[in-house]
Amino acid sequence: MGAGKTYKIGVIPGDGIGAEIISAGMKVVRAASEKFGFSLETVDYDFGGDRYLKTGETLPDSAITEFRKLDSIYLGAVGHPDVAPGILEKEILLRIRFELDQYINLRPVKLYPGVWHPLKDKGPEHIDYVVVRENTEGAYSGIGGSVKKGTKDEIATQLDVNTRKGVERCIRYAFKYAAKRNKRKTLTVVDKANVLTHSGDLWRRTARELSGEFPNIKLDFAFVDATCMWMVKNPEWFDVLVTNNMFGDIITDLAAMTQGGLGIAAGGNINPEGVSMFEPIHGSAPKYTGKNIACPIATISAGGMMLETLGEGKAAAAIEKAVIKATGEGFIKSLEAGKMGMGTSEVGDLLAKFVKEG
Ligand code: IPM
Ligand code: MN
Repeated sequence: MGAGKTYKIGVIPGDGIGAEIISAGMKVVRAASEKFGFSLETVDYDFGGDRYLKTGETLPDSAITEFRKLDSIYLGAVGHPDVAPGILEKEILLRIRFELDQYINLRPVKLYPGVWHPLKDKGPEHIDYVVVRENTEGAYSGIGGSVKKGTKDEIATQLDVNTRKGVERCIRYAFKYAAKRNKRKTLTVVDKANVLTHSGDLWRRTARELSGEFPNIKLDFAFVDATCMWMVKNPEWFDVLVTNNMFGDIITDLAAMTQGGLGIAAGGNINPEGVSMFEPIHGSAPKYTGKNIACPIATISAGGMMLETLGEGKAAAAIEKAVIKATGEGFIKSLEAGKMGMGTSEVGDLLAKFVKEG
């Protein structure tokens, strides 16, 4: 092997099954680095529920400073049964997304051969699209408040923030992605412009303006409710979808089910000019913790996305090929926890072996 590059990766296993799936993921990512001649230097971080319960600390400012010097971050999952919902999510996951300005949440939706899924008469040739979710604005901005709390007159607001800058950079990324992907060459803006007329207008106007820069990409618009229907009925219509933070969150759980479930759906929190973070889109699944039964494929695929983003396209392709071999040739019986026909750790070993042999 030639002297390849060395990448510095921050590893945050997080809570619940996080440690098990990240350890399986690291086996595969490391196998790819050995095979394709680059090195990974990892820095482990113990942020998550246990540390918070012990120390009261979620994510110190110094961690954000350190993260800025990394090449990438590999995250398991955050969410702990003894910590109130919202704390770890906001103070760890969302804080990293926001502070590192990871303004794209890239979620490929691809049905691999051999994977059980609920859409009758649809196969891998029908389910292959990508959701580009805006990742730093919208209803996730945290702007809003409550008055008259606890009374019958209580009012709560949670503003849906859409800035021209945020919308434009997200749509431009999606156009570029559609061009690079070079498949159906279609970008669909998913919104609710028939009701949310102000934000809908901003998104649609921006998309129309930018489309002049991408004459080869067809621009389309769809309402988010109808999009849910088509994702089930005609997923083959889609190529690249772009949408706001909240709609993107919701439709990608639905999308994940059509590609075989949360055990296989991966995502990247991407700052194209900075430090990105890769994770499975599922949560920490406390009930499966420590049992070596959770499916690590989503995490492994997220590792592949990480290598792709670092510029190691061949390594990423080898990981995807290994996943396809494992599902398509029946090595893995099911993506459901406890039904894979082997343990979490063994799936990591198997895919690492496929990557090395491949
Ligand atoms: C996701 C998750 C997060 C989100 C939660 C855990 C804050 O559901 O990554 O999709 O809503 O973005
Ligand atoms: Mn979600």
